[in-house]
Amino acid sequence: METEKKTHTAAEQMTDRDLSEQIKKVTKESHVRAENTELMLSFQRGKVTLPQYKLLLCSLYEIYQALEEELDRNSDHPSVAPIYFPAELARLKSIEKDLEYFYGQDWREKIVIPAATKRYSHRLRQIGKENPEFLLAHAYTRYLGDLSGGQVLGRIAQKSMDLKNGDGLSFFAFPGVSSPNLFKQLYRSRMNSVELTEEERNGVLEEAVRAFEFNIQVFEDLQKMLTVSDNTLQSSMTQSKPVKANTL
Ligand code: HEM
Repeated sequence: METEKKTHTAAEQMTDRDLSEQIKKVTKESHVRAENTELMLSFQRGKVTLPQYKLLLCSLYEIYQALEEELDRNSDHPSVAPIYFPAELARLKSIEKDLEYFYGQDWREKIVIPAATKRYSHRLRQIGKENPEFLLAHAYTRYLGDLSGGQVLGRIAQKSMDLKNGDGLSFFAFPGVSSPNLFKQLYRSRMNSVELTEEERNGVLEEAVRAFEFNIQVFEDLQKMLTVSDNTLQSSMTQSKPVKANTL
């Protein structure tokens, strides 16, 4: 062990202390759990249904509204300013466009916000007021996720639901980011430039794990709602023809 440690180069030791490395490490296990939620597995299997995707968009609307309002309000905060990229990353307008596509012009009256989503947005608003440095953990979790696996998920969603011309898929498109990989590198270096006390750093790392947990709960809650409505639909149809679970 001791010799192994000694063979580490100075550069590697430095990266061990980088926030971008630490945050990836502490959320690794949560990432695996998030990938294995029923909703994310449906995506990966190319079996995401319209009801799943529509409900997900409703939740994302509530989440990004809170996240982006709090980032805007705190854009001058020293922990937020370096990772504040509204032109490149902001998702709210894209989500609104997708919601309008699926629900029509009166989408605002039609969307549903599940309880776990409310809890997530409540937390975002709370830290925006009380601990703006924690916003970094949430921005990392959502935006770097959207720029990573999210890119593949967008293509899968398009195929699964047979959507044309990018209709309903604006959420996945980042026209202001020409290379997601290069942008992620820039984002990581900006994260690493944020000055944090030891206590704040630990708080940010804990908050990142919590951010993943909120996302997992959102996915589970959403799936539960769909299962309940599937069952209700199926039991109300038992006297007539069998109904496919994904025709909601
Ligand atoms: C990174 C896949 C779901 C957050 C990544 C990467 C892949 C990936 C391939 C790149 C890893 C790398 O560059 O080393 C997936 C798949 C998912 C999924 C297939 C589900 C089907 C999620 C969810 C979240 C998330 C639900 C959070 C809400 C992240 C973050 C990163 C990431 C923050 C950046 C890690 C870093 O470089 O620090 N994901 N992901 N992912 N994902 Fe996911």
